[in-house]
Amino acid sequence: MNILITGGASGLGFEITKVTASQGGNTVYFTYCRSEKEANVIVKSLPHAKAIKCDFRKAADIDRLLEDMPGMDLDVLINNAALEIVEAHFHKMDPNVFLDHFTNLMVPTVQITQKAIQIFRKKKFGKIINILSTAIVNKPPVGMSEYAALKSYLFSLSKSWAAENANFNITSNCVSPDFMQTKLTEYKDPRLVELYAQSHPLKKILTPQEVADSVFFLVNCSQQINGINLIINSAQGIL
Ligand SMILES: NC(=O)c1ccc[n+]([C@@H]2O[C@H](COP(=O)([O-])OP(=O)(O)OC[C@H]3O[C@@H](n4cnc5c(N)ncnc54)[C@H](OP(=O)(O)O)[C@@H]3O)[C@@H](O)[C@H]2O)c1
Repeated sequence: MNILITGGASGLGFEITKVTASQGGNTVYFTYCRSEKEANVIVKSLPHAKAIKCDFRKAADIDRLLEDMPGMDLDVLINNAALEIVEAHFHKMDPNVFLDHFTNLMVPTVQITQKAIQIFRKKKFGKIINILSTAIVNKPPVGMSEYAALKSYLFSLSKSWAAENANFNITSNCVSPDFMQTKLTEYKDPRLVELYAQSHPLKKILTPQEVADSVFFLVNCSQQINGINLIINSAQGIL
C-alpha cells in the first residue's frame, strides 16, 4: 500500500512510519517540519520511507504537497501532525490561539484530506486514519479546551468522511490515545508525569509504539471497519 503520514518523523508519527514502512509492499511518504535530522535517519534505515518537508504554517509547502499527492497513488492517509499545545483556562486563553491552530492545522488537514479523497474515489479504495486524543473522551482535562475542541472538530469531520465515502470503499477511522511522553508533552512537569503513571491501572504510561500498533491494525483491517474511534485509555473513563 502507499501511505501518507503527516508528522511522521517524531513521536507517535515516527513509530507509525517505522511499523508501516517495515511491512513488505508498502511505500510510506511522511511529512516532517522541524525533525529534519530524524527524517534523514529514517530514510537511510527504511528504504521504503520517503521524507517530505512540509511546514503546515507555509502555504507553499502545502501547495507542493497537494501537487505531489496524485503521484503517490495513495491508499492510506494518516492525519497525525499537531501544533504545540497551549494550556490555559478557557477564559484566559488568547483567542488568536484558536485562530492560529484552526488556520495552520485544521485547514491544511482539510486540504490534504480533500485531495486524498479525490484520489481514493478514483481507485474505489482508501483509508483515512485520524489521530485524536482521550481529551475528547468523558471529562475534558482542565486547561486543554482549545486542543480538545480541535480534536472534536476532526472527530466530527472523520464521521462525515466515513458517511460520505463508504459507498466508494473509503473508510475513515480514528484512534484516541491517552497521555504519551513525546515532544508534544515534554513541557509537562515530571512530577505530574510520575503521578499519571502511579494512577494508571497498569502503573505505566501508554507508549507511542503501542498506539502505532493500533494504527497498523486500522491500516490492514477490513473495509467493514468504518466510522469508529478506537479509544486507548486502559478503561480510564469508559464511554
Ligand atoms: N503525546 C500525547 O500525550 C498524545 C495523546 C493523544 C494524542 N496525541 C496526538 O498524537 C499525534 C502525534 O503527537 P506526538 O505526541 O507524537 O507529538 P510530536 O512528536 O510533537 O508530534 C507532532 C507532529 O506534528 C508535526 N508538526 C508540528 N508542527 C508542525 C507544522 N508546523 N507543520 C507540520 N507538521 C508539524 C511534528 O513534526 P516535526 O517533529 O518534524 O516538527 C510532529 O511529527 C498528535 O495528533 C497528537 O495530538 C498525543
